[in-house]
Amino acid sequence: MTTAGHALAATLPAAHRRVLSAALRAPSAHNAQPWRISVRPGRYELHYDHHNYLPADPEDRDAYLCMGAFCETLVLAAVREGLVAEVRLVLRRTGTDLHVADVELQPGVVADPLAASVADRATNRSRYTDEPLPAALTSALRDLRCVLVPTGEVARIVRRASVLSWRDRRFVGDLRAWIRADADRPDGMTRRQLRLAGYEWLALRAAFVLGRLPAPLARAYSGRDIRLLGEAPAVAVLCADSDSPADLVAAGRRLLRAWTTICAHRFGYHPISIAIDRPETRPDVAALAGGHGTPVALFRIGRPTEPAGESNRLQLADVLRG
Ligand SMILES: Cc1cc2nc3c(=O)[nH]c(=O)nc-3n(C[C@H](O)[C@H](O)[C@H](O)COP(=O)(O)O)c2cc1C
Repeated sequence: MTTAGHALAATLPAAHRRVLSAALRAPSAHNAQPWRISVRPGRYELHYDHHNYLPADPEDRDAYLCMGAFCETLVLAAVREGLVAEVRLVLRRTGTDLHVADVELQPGVVADPLAASVADRATNRSRYTDEPLPAALTSALRDLRCVLVPTGEVARIVRRASVLSWRDRRFVGDLRAWIRADADRPDGMTRRQLRLAGYEWLALRAAFVLGRLPAPLARAYSGRDIRLLGEAPAVAVLCADSDSPADLVAAGRRLLRAWTTICAHRFGYHPISIAIDRPETRPDVAALAGGHGTPVALFRIGRPTEPAGESNRLQLADVLRG
C-alpha cells in the first residue's frame, strides 16, 4: 500500500471510501484489476492502466468489459450508502492511459434490489448440479441480453478454443503473468481460487517453461472445462451492439448485473472466455447466439456444489492517484 495513496484515502468522505472500496471487488479477467482512480474536486476519474495490458486481449475487450463491471459495482455500492453515482463516459486515451469515465457521488435514494447482493457476487468454478434455472432468473438474464445456448454445442467450440489457446504463446504468457504461486498476492489468480488439481498445476508449470502446451497435453488440460461445461444446466452468451469501447463498457455493466443476479438466486456462474477471445471460434459462438448481436462474454450457470473460492484484491490506497 502506498503512503501517498493512504494519505489521499484519508482525505475522502468515509461513505465515498466505503463505496470505492466496495467497487474494488468488481470482477476482472485474470483478476488484473486494471482500474485506477484519480481524485479531482467534486469527482473521481476512472482510468484503465495500460501497463496491465493483456497481449492475448489485443482489442482490449476484456479491459473495457471489466471497466464496465467496475462502474456498475460502484453504482450498486453507492445505492447501499444512500448515494447516487453518476457515471459519464470519457474514453480519452493519453499514451498508455485510458481515461474511461468520470464519477460523481451525490446524496440520493435509488431503489435497486441488486444493491443488496453485489457484495455476494463471486466466480464459482466448482461443479454444478443439473437443477434447471428458475424462470425468474432466465427472464432476468434475457433482459440483460444474455442468450442461453445449447450446452453440448458450446462444449465442442470450447474444446477447439482451448487447444488453440494452450498452443498460443501469448495466451500462456498472460497466464504466466497473472497466476500466483503466492496465495497472498493482492492481484492475479491463485491455485486455490482456480481449483487446480495437482496434475493441472503441473501442466500449467510445464506450459510456463515451454511457452505453450503440446497438443496431447493441451487436450488433456482442456478436458476439465469441457466436463464442467457439459454438466452445467445452462450456458449464456452476453451480446453487445458492437466491439466499440462504449458498447463494451455498457456490456460490462450488464455483465456485472447478470452475474450478481445469478448469485442472488444462489446459483453460480463461471466465465469461459477463450471461446470468445479466439478469432477462430468467436464466429461459431456468434452463430449459436443467433441474431442477438456481437458475443462478448460466455459463462456456464448452475447450482454450485461448493462455495466460490476467495479472490484477493488491491486496497483503495493502491489504486488512488492524486
Ligand atoms: C471479462 C472477464 C473475463 C473473464 N474470463 C474468465 C475466464 O475465462 N475463466 C475464468 O475462470 N474466470 C474468468 N473471469 C473471472 C475472473 O478471473 C474473476 O472475476 C477474478 O479472478 C476475481 O474473482 P471473483 O470474480 O470471484 O471476484 C473473467 C472475468 C471478467 C470480468
